[in-house]
Amino acid sequence: MKIKWHLSALVILSILAGSMAGRAETLRQAAERIGLLVGTAVNPALFSNPEYARTLAREFNMVEPENVMKWRVTEPAKGKFNFGPGDQVVAFAGAHGMKVRGHNLLWGKFNPEWLTRGQFTPRELRQMMKQHIQTVARHYRGEVFAWDVVNEAFDSDGRLSHSIWLDRPGIGLARQGTAYIAQAFRWAHQADPHALLFYNDYAAEGIDAKSNAIYAMVKKFKQEGIPIDGVGLQLHVVSSRALPRGMAANIRRLAKLGVEVQITEMDVALPIDSNGTASASELSRQAKIYAKVARTCAAIPACTAFQTWGFTDRYSWLPAYTMGKKGAALLLNADYRPKPAYDAVIDAFRQALQRDRQIKERRIRFEQSVSER
Ligand code: XIL
Repeated sequence: MKIKWHLSALVILSILAGSMAGRAETLRQAAERIGLLVGTAVNPALFSNPEYARTLAREFNMVEPENVMKWRVTEPAKGKFNFGPGDQVVAFAGAHGMKVRGHNLLWGKFNPEWLTRGQFTPRELRQMMKQHIQTVARHYRGEVFAWDVVNEAFDSDGRLSHSIWLDRPGIGLARQGTAYIAQAFRWAHQADPHALLFYNDYAAEGIDAKSNAIYAMVKKFKQEGIPIDGVGLQLHVVSSRALPRGMAANIRRLAKLGVEVQITEMDVALPIDSNGTASASELSRQAKIYAKVARTCAAIPACTAFQTWGFTDRYSWLPAYTMGKKGAALLLNADYRPKPAYDAVIDAFRQALQRDRQIKERRIRFEQSVSER
């Protein structure tokens, strides 16, 4: 009898050890102790999956719709708006005390065909851009605390990317550099004066031509009184072989301009086999990359959010995007079990507190200085 009891206790313990239950603290709790938002991209179609919903509410204090606040979903026909799925994200967040990051108001990609195939004059496009930005931002006023106003507008060489908004045909500001971006920020600010307004981009975390161009734009906007409050660094890491470099310096120089920085879409793509599995050594390299980014963000008061592009490998965009070559990029595996990367991020948050007992207060003070602009 006694032996039997011991055996079943062992079985239960080993099940618990493989899940979250063996851990002292959740990601969300560790982040809250350092005043950091910890978020993930979400798909509201999955909220009815109990494991998805339970894990999401337990581990995160912020959500961002992966797709449903993009133009293709929110304005599927000209002038006809669809806020249903986005409203579901807002409702879930409200029910679980989470913040909502809006993504995004303007991008050269993921636009509906009526827009990309339509023949519009710059005058018409300008009017449509204004109406879209303002209708969406007004709908979510008071509910979305921060918006990616413009997404991915620069190339890797630091030049502005060609797009329907810049020059194909553009909104009539094609030869004026970042003027169309400034216009997007002004319109967003009119529609929701309290939301934090971000510029968001990928491969711009270190110091290079692209991040220099973003820095120069933010500096110019600040000098000219264009309402920008933050820069989102996506952090889609495509190789596990190198650690991101120059991130702290880049965040610090942006902070000096008086804007926040948020890690907005982190994932670390690993080579996977046909079952979607990555090797143990790849998983440990991945953990080191997550650790470095989380540690850097957690230690700097101007870095106010750490967000991943999904949370379970079951629903990552990468396998489809890389045609099955890469995946296993997130903190939990396809069965919602924590990976080495999960523990590495919690450790990074804990270390930030040990190194600086005032880090939470410092972060709050930085946020106040930005919102009092
Ligand atoms: C991706 C989504 O994850 C996919 O589901 C969708 O098919 C395409 O967009 N940078 C961004 C995100 O800013 O919006 C992208 O999301 C990933 C790259």
